[in-house]
Amino acid sequence: MIHTKSEELYKKALQLFPGGVNSPVRAFKSVGGTPIFIEKGKGSKIYDVDGNEYIDYCASWGPLILGHAHPDIINAAYQAMMNGTSFGAPTKLENQLAELILNHHPYIEKIRFVSSGTEAVMSAIRLARAYTGKNKIIKFEGCYHGHSDSLLVKAGSGLVTFGQSSSAGVPKEIVQHTIVLQLDDESAVQKAFEEFGNDIAAIIIEPIPANNGLLLQRKEYLQFLRDITKQHNCLLIFDEVISGFRVGFTGAAGYYNISPDIITFGKIIGGGFPVGAYAASKEIMRMVSPEGPMYQAGTLSGNPVAMAAGYAQLSRCLEDNFYTTLEEKTKTLIDGILQVKPEVLPFKIFSIGSIFWIAFAEREYIRSANEIDANSMNYFRTLYHALLKNGVYLGPSGYEVGFLSAVHTNEDIERTVLAFEKAFKEMLVES
Ligand SMILES: Cc1ncc(COP(=O)(O)O)c(C=O)c1O
Repeated sequence: MIHTKSEELYKKALQLFPGGVNSPVRAFKSVGGTPIFIEKGKGSKIYDVDGNEYIDYCASWGPLILGHAHPDIINAAYQAMMNGTSFGAPTKLENQLAELILNHHPYIEKIRFVSSGTEAVMSAIRLARAYTGKNKIIKFEGCYHGHSDSLLVKAGSGLVTFGQSSSAGVPKEIVQHTIVLQLDDESAVQKAFEEFGNDIAAIIIEPIPANNGLLLQRKEYLQFLRDITKQHNCLLIFDEVISGFRVGFTGAAGYYNISPDIITFGKIIGGGFPVGAYAASKEIMRMVSPEGPMYQAGTLSGNPVAMAAGYAQLSRCLEDNFYTTLEEKTKTLIDGILQVKPEVLPFKIFSIGSIFWIAFAEREYIRSANEIDANSMNYFRTLYHALLKNGVYLGPSGYEVGFLSAVHTNEDIERTVLAFEKAFKEMLVES
């Protein structure tokens, strides 16, 4: 496989953008080598500028649950665009998408559209603080919630610590309001409430943590978070930017049947266009401007083209058996890969719905970030390039999950399993 044109474009990009990219993971730093520059996508496939074809399991990091350039989405976006691309005034399309969501999602009553997952979560935190009148938030190591200042925080060394910023440029005065805990540890949460209970506005969690491996949580643990937040009059925020509309139309809230106070959305909700949203009960959403005192706004919020695309995508997701078919397909892929996996490699695939994570691990389950062995990423690096060479594209990091879309075919799955078989063989020869 030749990547000459990608390499040339990357060289140019290095002069134009920090690290040659507009979002860090794209730079292939964790797997090494040169990023592949994509020319186009259709269905389950993407094609790079050198004409190579790949079966894609990155799906633009999750939004493309109908695959690339789905005709419904392209037509809807095109029709909307023909009427103009943005007005900064309300349109019917916003009502349509909101009604579609709220009518089929019993855990929320009102929604506000924004333009990214980061914006959705940042606003949800502000809303929790506005509603409770409290300052601190609890987040968990291994959950990613976008790049707003108060959430770019990693755990310190103690059981309950104020986090340390994981990015330069974030004042410690901001970070001091964020408490970072390990997942799957009730006692750490209890201790945080003993120490700071009066001032905790919210716990925020990815109920299906999928940004640092796939750290599937026990339902009892999520229920515990629900109960303890209620006891202390603070809010539970489910960040469903990935899991929303992915593990079912009602996301993780529906999957676990746990009702959080605020849910954040992104990715799938916009059909591949920049959309995010936060949603809650009418009572909580009453705080949001112009109805209430919590300010939040956006020039392109509720953008008509993005609303039309989101509506087209979510309408498909509501069709009978959409999610069961997707899950069955994912199971077929995983079973196939496990059948060709060599005995000698410590290899697992964790999955839920159509999300899967490849882990070189012995453990039967991995529920918190500190249970991931960083050295295992060396295996992933080798596997990654072997798969790429055999026409399978995954997100370029062993901490990232993969996604199936509704348009992956049985043939795609067979080809992928074959690619894994070849890749495993290459790994064994190299080791
Ligand atoms: C759970 C979660 N929250 C928030 C975000 C931030 O979303 P965005 O990249 O659209 O700003 C992401 C992005 O991957 C995410 O996975």
